[in-house]
Amino acid sequence: MRIAVVGTGYVGLVTGTCLAETGNEVVCVDINQKKVEMMQQGQLPIYEPGLEQLFHRNIAQGRLRFTTSLSEGIEEAKIIFLALPTPPGGNGAADLSYVLGAAADIAGLLTSYKVIVTKSTVPVGTADKVTAIMQQHIREGVSYAVVSNPEFLREGVAVEDFMKPDRVVVGTSDERARKLMAELYGPYVRQGNPIIFMDERSSELTKYAANSFLATKISFMNEIANLCERVGADVDMVRKGIGADERIGRRFLFAGIGYGGSCFPKDVQALAKSAEENHYDFKILDAVMDVNQTQKRMLVEKVSNYYQGDLSGKHFALWGLAFKPETDDIREAPALEIIDALLSAGATVSAFDPEGMNNVKALLGEKITFAENPYAALEGADALLIVTEWQLFRTPDFERVGSLLKAKVIFDGRNLYDIQKMIDCGFYYNSIGRKVVGREQVVESSKA
Ligand code: UDX
Repeated sequence: MRIAVVGTGYVGLVTGTCLAETGNEVVCVDINQKKVEMMQQGQLPIYEPGLEQLFHRNIAQGRLRFTTSLSEGIEEAKIIFLALPTPPGGNGAADLSYVLGAAADIAGLLTSYKVIVTKSTVPVGTADKVTAIMQQHIREGVSYAVVSNPEFLREGVAVEDFMKPDRVVVGTSDERARKLMAELYGPYVRQGNPIIFMDERSSELTKYAANSFLATKISFMNEIANLCERVGADVDMVRKGIGADERIGRRFLFAGIGYGGSCFPKDVQALAKSAEENHYDFKILDAVMDVNQTQKRMLVEKVSNYYQGDLSGKHFALWGLAFKPETDDIREAPALEIIDALLSAGATVSAFDPEGMNNVKALLGEKITFAENPYAALEGADALLIVTEWQLFRTPDFERVGSLLKAKVIFDGRNLYDIQKMIDCGFYYNSIGRKVVGREQVVESSKA
């Protein structure tokens, strides 16, 4: 099938490439000429595991092309995906100008029936808005369908999520579009996972509900962790204890330093805004956002308490910058808040991240130093802060870590290390929702 994908961000590129992989002919359209030229020369502008191989293969086999011309891109396409940004507008609601602008342009170019799919995360009612704007620009006698098909792609495993989705959600009231979407997604759900058809509004809300529910799980566990610290319980044990209940599930129960990324913060905020606009007081969402904001600062609070509120002149090593492992994405990354708080308090920072350093460099320049490897970041640092749970950080040479740091002090925002191991290695170790071990304990017991 001939497909057009408008917008080549994370979602657009993964969608386009993965659709080409099953034999479709895909043209990706983007207004950014430099980016398009780069992709035409076979350069992938993002880091996403597994994508590069598919990207090259499908370009080489002529199934994946790139253009800046919308008319060229959508010519002969049966289905046109809109994978455009929907950033939070000034009032917190998603800004639909890119999506609606593209819909108007596409409508003006259509000469035969096509399916226009909103892949971007858009507020309930957007399909109606897209239809209304297309209606204003469409030539007489040309028909089309607007379909909502939200993505559920996790960065870092986006290719796997696309190729083997838990489910595909399609919102449409158009029978012809329904058949085309079923045909398109058929190869991806061979193992029996469902394509769930529904109306456009339910589909649009499903995306927000899914992400907000997951964000709620995280904020809930972060609060449990904070309580664990106060009552002397261990959040990892509580997590295992509740996760074994199938109604709760084992996944997405990891306490840490708050959720980040391009989706959760934006989507929870947009759903709250949408509730407000519809005169509904969605209380849980406000709490979820509030808890997350506090949690993002939790590690610095622990650091600050340890040094009795005085961080001036201190130097910290940060392991991890990306908002999560296996991505270079630093959007809404807790690392940025942590760096900001440390620098404002007069401290200096040396960081290492396997993929995220270039993006932070572009944002912060010389404000912090970037190390060539995890150990180089530690040299002369007063303490190590674990910010992202990259595999690389899970089993370091603790002897080397201890010898490079000025003091054997670790603040772990991701609970990577075994408490007993930290005791054995002689570290002061302060993680999330677990007991603090090391010097503080000694100080406390000597007080007692
Ligand atoms: C998310 C959704 O998972 C995906 O379905 C959606 O379409 C896009 O948004 P992504 O933003 O790539 O994907 O990251 P995800 O792996 O879901 O993690 C989101 C955030 O939650 C990260 O900051 C992560 O560190 C945090 N998290 C996740 C936790 O703090 N604890 C957990 O147990 C899980």
